Amino acid sequence: MIHSSTSNKKTMASELPAWQALKEHVTEVDATHLRDLLHDDQRCMDLIKESEGIYVDLTRQRVTPKTLDLLYDLADQAGLKNKINAMFSGEHINSTEDRAVLHVATRARRDQKIIVDGKDVVPDVWEVLDKIKNFTDKVRNGQFVGVTGKPLKKVVAIGIGGSFLGPLFVHTALRTEPNAMRASRDRTLRFLANVDPIDVARALDGLDPEETLVVVISKTFTTAETMLNARTVRSWLIERLGANAVEKHMVAVSTNLKLVKEFGIDPENAFGFWDWVGGRYSVCSAVGILPLALQYGFDIMQEFLAGANNMDEHFKNQPFYNNLPVLIGLLSIWNVSFMGYGAKAILPYCQALSKLAPHIQQVDMESNGKGVDINGQRLPFETGEIDFGEPGTNGQHSFYQLIHQGRVVPCEFIGIVRSQQSVYLKGEVVSNHDELMCNFFAQADALAYGKTQEQLRSENVPDYLIPHRVFTGNRPSMSIMLPSCTAYTVGQLLALYEHRIAVQGFIWNINSFDQWGVELGKVLASKVRTVMNSARTRDRKVLPGDGFNYSTTRMINRYLEGKTQLMYPKGHDVFPIDILRSVD
Ligand code: F6P
Repeated sequence: MIHSSTSNKKTMASELPAWQALKEHVTEVDATHLRDLLHDDQRCMDLIKESEGIYVDLTRQRVTPKTLDLLYDLADQAGLKNKINAMFSGEHINSTEDRAVLHVATRARRDQKIIVDGKDVVPDVWEVLDKIKNFTDKVRNGQFVGVTGKPLKKVVAIGIGGSFLGPLFVHTALRTEPNAMRASRDRTLRFLANVDPIDVARALDGLDPEETLVVVISKTFTTAETMLNARTVRSWLIERLGANAVEKHMVAVSTNLKLVKEFGIDPENAFGFWDWVGGRYSVCSAVGILPLALQYGFDIMQEFLAGANNMDEHFKNQPFYNNLPVLIGLLSIWNVSFMGYGAKAILPYCQALSKLAPHIQQVDMESNGKGVDINGQRLPFETGEIDFGEPGTNGQHSFYQLIHQGRVVPCEFIGIVRSQQSVYLKGEVVSNHDELMCNFFAQADALAYGKTQEQLRSENVPDYLIPHRVFTGNRPSMSIMLPSCTAYTVGQLLALYEHRIAVQGFIWNINSFDQWGVELGKVLASKVRTVMNSARTRDRKVLPGDGFNYSTTRMINRYLEGKTQLMYPKGHDVFPIDILRSVD
């Protein structure tokens, strides 16, 4: 690590010589166009990587061989290799929370050793996985049944943020995969995340409580939204099945097993994980594996873990020029910090990956949206990227206009060689999946090449339309092609994205593993909660003395005007589905 001469000040990423060199290099790249860069065969060969069965084409990034050399210099000067090693060896790299960052241990093979604070944690990981296998087998084969003796075929997973988005992504990815489909026949998995009672209504609508198993997922077991949803669903179960229902119909995943027990869940039915697994990196722990194994069986989830483990090994061992997460992470650094492209679009040409973008939004933006470096020094540059995305071709009919002719947004196209489902109609020129993939191939070149005035003229486009129909091109993208969309490749893809995000944080020299930015809103919501309770139970307005500014006071009072007084002493539990039914 390079330190500057002044006593306490530590060198920032932007002060590294390679950072400066990259800044100066921007003018050289600005003088190029992807139209020309794509005709340099040697450059293209060097920018196509095929590893672990994944095909990654980086030729449409706005980079020259020199850009890559400078990015490797930046990686060296930022100590990237040492930082990756520190993560894998259990050092407390999450310094503000004094924790190791070891989600990779949650998918370690049984024969691996990963030491945290002097202890090999792999046996602990497998103890929980074995417990999950045992429990989920029993639920799935009808040995573990509900209070009335019915098999538990419906699962509602309650959790938010990392305790929701990762499992939802994987569930969505597997629903139509033939093996997973077969394994989940007659079973249902739903998620309840938002504290909005509408989400409760939707999650519970049509479910028979006698057949329903609820999994409460919360690392801390204190998250306000999750705990209120858990209490709500607990009341729903008790009201319909009696007080004993909790023992048979509610299980939990948490690092806080004490609070799980206090909630009333049998510790036998609690599945732990550890503070060295960040919430947004927890899908491979019991957070994802328990609900997903209930739905798909443990064997399929083990394939998913094996895929993630494969990408972990790749990330740890491959040289940078062949290391997919390192290359993709470095190119994002180039796009964000040097080319000035602050957003990226995640565009899977595979409906099963439709929840990748929402998951990566949390992993990336909660990890890398930081204002200070790891030493607490305010950063003179912006970190993180704004992530968004939709599956192709839906995105094409939505926001691609902006991407082609408005702002420059680096795009990440993800395509699949063998679709989970195939349709080929007699008389059609291509199969339905080929049709989808035709768009995958076309969009990347459309962005790169664009369309010139000359081309438009040669097509006899009237003069007045030419400016409207010009595409400047030179818009960067990358294309990732997976052989198929299975539990294994979904695991690889997940880990690929997790690690590229870590690479970016390591280069920017920020702490990608804390999330202090989510705290302030929670504190203020708690203050509103106290006043809200007092206003609704005593039928009073919020007053200037309650501690809110004029604007907030007025807005809360405007809200309260439309509400009735809450009568807790004589009240009874009201569930949104009751309301739905009465409306019916
Ligand atoms: O959004 C903040 C956060 O702490 C996330 O990092 C986390 O995934 C989420 O809340 C849920 O937390 P928990 O699993 O503790 O309920």
